Amino acid sequence: MDVIGRCRELATVSEEAGALTRPFATPAMARANALVAGWMEEAGLSTRTDAAGNLVGRMSGPDVEARTLLLGSHLDTVRDAGAYDGPLGVLAAIACVEELRARDITLPFAVDVYGFADEEGLRYGTAYLGSRAVAGTFEPELFALADADGVHLRDALTAFGGDPVGMASAARPDALGYLEVHIEQGPVLERAGRPLGVVSAIDGQTRAHVVFTGEAGHAGTVPMGARRDAACALAEFVLAVEEAGRAAPALVATVGRLTASPGAPNSIAGEATASLDVRHPDDAVREAATTALLERATAIGAARDVAVLWEPRMDAPAVAMDPRLVAALAEAAEGAPLLPSGAGHDAVALAAAMPVGMLFVRCAGGVSHAPGESVDPADVDAAVDVLVRAVCALAD
Ligand code: GLV
Ligand code: MN
Ligand code: MN
Repeated sequence: MDVIGRCRELATVSEEAGALTRPFATPAMARANALVAGWMEEAGLSTRTDAAGNLVGRMSGPDVEARTLLLGSHLDTVRDAGAYDGPLGVLAAIACVEELRARDITLPFAVDVYGFADEEGLRYGTAYLGSRAVAGTFEPELFALADADGVHLRDALTAFGGDPVGMASAARPDALGYLEVHIEQGPVLERAGRPLGVVSAIDGQTRAHVVFTGEAGHAGTVPMGARRDAACALAEFVLAVEEAGRAAPALVATVGRLTASPGAPNSIAGEATASLDVRHPDDAVREAATTALLERATAIGAARDVAVLWEPRMDAPAVAMDPRLVAALAEAAEGAPLLPSGAGHDAVALAAAMPVGMLFVRCAGGVSHAPGESVDPADVDAAVDVLVRAVCALAD
């Protein structure tokens, strides 16, 4: 089966009927890891799942001392995802290994193909859990995070077969670098009529979970002037986030998930929550916008006598790709354009520990984080070919 066929098969592995939703450390992730592990083994890789739940397929090097080049992407998804965000990069990496073997190419290093466990952060609101473990930057405080059902990360990872106590074993001090193929998730390549692009840098990203706590009450009896309505505070905050995002060029600010409880049409909301996601290529701009939004949330709460709890979930700086890997990809891709990434990727976390490089594949209409994601088979073949050539160039 080709890369696209495998992506489509993998897209049937979901926690939800009728939609692709595959959060970190869930039964669907376990089934996805098993399916991909089978394809890795067919490609001659030896497979394991590391302490963080990442799937790893290894092509050994010439000797035990040899260092390792990491390839791959993530196998978790957003809610109601498309088939390619993540899986394309894992399956392209497996195709690359198949091609290296088919051409009898021996490398002076080992190659490990990763299917990272949590790039999206759907379950715990904090992304790159798997790749942070590989970079050796996973902070143990994260184990205390709870998902929407109150399940702590530590327990979810243990139930999945991971090893919270042995998390340090997932780190890869032997890594030479990391190369990832990913769909562009935007319209730039399509508009430029180019199948592939080489990533120059990835925008910085802040995420927070904001909780407004007022007082629940009867929708028919509590006068408007006597209310401490958490949903109204939340509504003001959502519009403040939109306004902030529009206030500076290249800044984007999003509330993608909100809740109000108790959640009955005839009850005033006592509690309301919002996710917050703020991104910009310049860390100072992102940090200033985030601080202003924290102040704004506090002011909204004070004016309404609603308490505001602001839980930071992620603070990832903008990350430049490694110049040598950029050059290797650009040369292999014969003049493909350089472009920045507004989307986050595992390369952000891995950059703390190793050189990283990424290749983007054009996607139809720039659609992503939606079931309509689509790629051209010829573009995918070209991406695999570029990856093979870049890996060979690094070997030289
Ligand atoms: C992942 O797709 C992200 O950019 O949040
Ligand atoms: Mn994504
Ligand atoms: Mn992705």
